[in-house]
Amino acid sequence: MTQKKLLITRHIAEPVIEQARARFDTVVRESGDGMDEAEVLAALTAYDAILPTLGDRFTAETFARAGAGLRCKVLGNFGVGYNHIDAAAAAAHGVVVTNTPDVLTDATADIGWTLILATARRAGEGERMVRAGQWGGFGPKSMLGTHVTGKTLGIVGMGRIGQAVARRGHFGFGMDVVFYNRSAKQTDFPARQLASLNDVMSAADFVVVTTPGGKETTGLIGADALAAMKPSGIFVNISRGEVVDEPALISALAEGRIAGAGLDVYEKEPHVPEALRALENCVLLPHLGSATVETRQAMGQMALDNIIAWDEGRDPPQRVN
Ligand code: GLV
Repeated sequence: MTQKKLLITRHIAEPVIEQARARFDTVVRESGDGMDEAEVLAALTAYDAILPTLGDRFTAETFARAGAGLRCKVLGNFGVGYNHIDAAAAAAHGVVVTNTPDVLTDATADIGWTLILATARRAGEGERMVRAGQWGGFGPKSMLGTHVTGKTLGIVGMGRIGQAVARRGHFGFGMDVVFYNRSAKQTDFPARQLASLNDVMSAADFVVVTTPGGKETTGLIGADALAAMKPSGIFVNISRGEVVDEPALISALAEGRIAGAGLDVYEKEPHVPEALRALENCVLLPHLGSATVETRQAMGQMALDNIIAWDEGRDPPQRVN
């Protein structure tokens, strides 16, 4: 039997690539950039299975353009977020889509906390000052930040990652946790679900956005929601850039209407607006949420295991469409 053809769109952990090569006729793409529409179209017609990731855009138009030439039957996405894939259009064309939940929950929650602490305690600003040789020494009133322990933590989107951020806040930092979630949600630790997004924005000292991306959450945090925050409030986004109106956030930061922001994600990655980079009161990370050796290996394994399940005729465990 001829082996099925698999495209892995980036270099992922070597042990996962080795397993893929043992089972499939595997090509690993050399480029570190996302695939453009022409490349996605070519891949959909040339491979039986694709292991793509963020930056590879699979749109309804591209599936339609592949038409009768569509060969691909499964997209084993590397990442929990799959807003770069039109999963409904994929299903309509008989393409199974899977993702990698759970294995990255802790790593991503840890990045949320890296941003909370770094922003509250002005770690980015301080580090830049030390590296620039501009530190004048300890001063009772120099570089004062915001206390974290005991404050109110507001979570927007109480899914797996939101709960992991909240758990750390409750157990580790004695925080009062409030949250906004579209559906009613029970937690196994103390946390209060508030009626509206703006209730959470205004109650919290620290707001952390952990919703999925995609059409339903695009622009969820707009000028209105940001205006509801306390002037001392700190805003953190570890979900997707499009969830936040970036120009509105930049204005709120630049005008001092909120105290700071910690961001891991941006509207047009890898583009980060100059106006944001110029601000001292924000900490900017390059989408590091799941970026640990262990987590990225587990994500690769899960993505491949889903493709193997499809190959064996089983329902892939992390199927999303
Ligand atoms: C990363 O952002 C992911 O969705 O896994």
